[in-house]
Amino acid sequence: MSEKGARSSRFSGALVPEAAALNASIDFDKRLLDVDVAGSCAHAQMLAAQGIISDADADAIVSGLAEVKAEFERGEHTYDPSLEDIHMNVEARLTEKIGDPGRRLHTGRSRNDQVATDLRLYARSAAADIIKLIDAVRGELVELAATHIDVIMPGYTHLQRAQPVRLSHHLMAYETMLRRDRGRVYDAAERASECPLGSGALAATTFPIDRHAVANTLGFARITQNSMDAVSDRDFVVELIAALALCQVHLSRLGEEIWLWLSQEFRFAKLDEGYCSGSSIMPQKVNPDIAELIRAKTGRVVGDWVAMMTVLKGLPLAYNKDLQETQEPLYDAVDTVSGSLRVCIGMIAGIDFDVVRLREAVGEGYLLATELADYLAAKGVPFRAAHDAAGAVVRAAIDSHHSLAALELAELKRHHSAFEADVFEWLDPDAAINRRDIVGGPARSQVLVQIADAKADLKQ
Ligand code: ARG
Repeated sequence: MSEKGARSSRFSGALVPEAAALNASIDFDKRLLDVDVAGSCAHAQMLAAQGIISDADADAIVSGLAEVKAEFERGEHTYDPSLEDIHMNVEARLTEKIGDPGRRLHTGRSRNDQVATDLRLYARSAAADIIKLIDAVRGELVELAATHIDVIMPGYTHLQRAQPVRLSHHLMAYETMLRRDRGRVYDAAERASECPLGSGALAATTFPIDRHAVANTLGFARITQNSMDAVSDRDFVVELIAALALCQVHLSRLGEEIWLWLSQEFRFAKLDEGYCSGSSIMPQKVNPDIAELIRAKTGRVVGDWVAMMTVLKGLPLAYNKDLQETQEPLYDAVDTVSGSLRVCIGMIAGIDFDVVRLREAVGEGYLLATELADYLAAKGVPFRAAHDAAGAVVRAAIDSHHSLAALELAELKRHHSAFEADVFEWLDPDAAINRRDIVGGPARSQVLVQIADAKADLKQ
């Protein structure tokens, strides 16, 4: 009797080579080795506890699986593509080593609930790794914000200088985005925490297995409640990739900002040369390739999400081989986002801000015009009228090539009689920022609260 993979004696011949190549998943699902072995150990121990196989068989399976795993990891035994996938490779090698007990491992189980279990285990562990990386990036942002608490810079809307802000406030905006990303990844992992084992191929099993015991051993919070759904659903993968795609979008925005700050047009910062490339033709160039790649890799991760949704669309119940195609987008998204986060940790630490230039930039572009309007409004002038008068002052300043603070009080009064000498206190950018002393605002005290809150959250 042939025991070659999933092809029983029902088959008289092998897959044609081109079909075998398309069918085999071992090239990518070998990354499930760890979780596949963990799932099989838990299953075997439960089978023995339920009296379905003997304790001796379970012991042989568990120790045999540890050896099989070590052999594959050390490359002492190589994967056989004709065995299709990781599940059959592990089982075939186990049986080669321990004989009959190995042939009993698949009792009460199918590759369909097996792979669904493996993928959920993988998704949870990948999510845990990514959460650590997100926190490391958040930690760098918080650190940079704390050490630059007194640095001010122009805040932008439409990439036009708008109002002065603190650099630390700007940096903490990214920490805030990443904190939400962390929450989304955590939530996706939490919803993935259901054990499908026991769902069988689609119609569960006749064996008196203990699904809760397996779930407990594997650290799942719950067991799945519908066998047909459990073997065919990959929405936990969609959710995780969606969270990762959004995280990459946030990193791309940060990459874009760093990229702008490094340009000759901005000159707001320099970057550790370890994160820059040279030009093959223009020797003077120091290019921010890494920031650009972080920006660009968003396309891949969004593509992974689109691939997932497209594979799942219209699939009838229950398992279909289409589901094998959900693995690579998951791995790609995990690898891409992990790689980007990992590089961001050092890149953020490697930003050297030109604090003088940042402050100079606050002085160019009439960023304090809003202060003039607020000043008048605080004196009882209706805000719309105050806004209009402030606009006229800006126009006069532009025409006479003066900064707002360099205008004479008499000139200001020509535009509104409510202007008094104390208006010039409002035209100091540090004071303007600190007057925005409201939760979420850029005042020094408020940003210090944001920083302290982030630090406390990271300590948890
Ligand atoms: N490699 C397969 C996958 O990823 C494992 C399940 C195979 N099941 C089957 N009925 N052919 O989906």
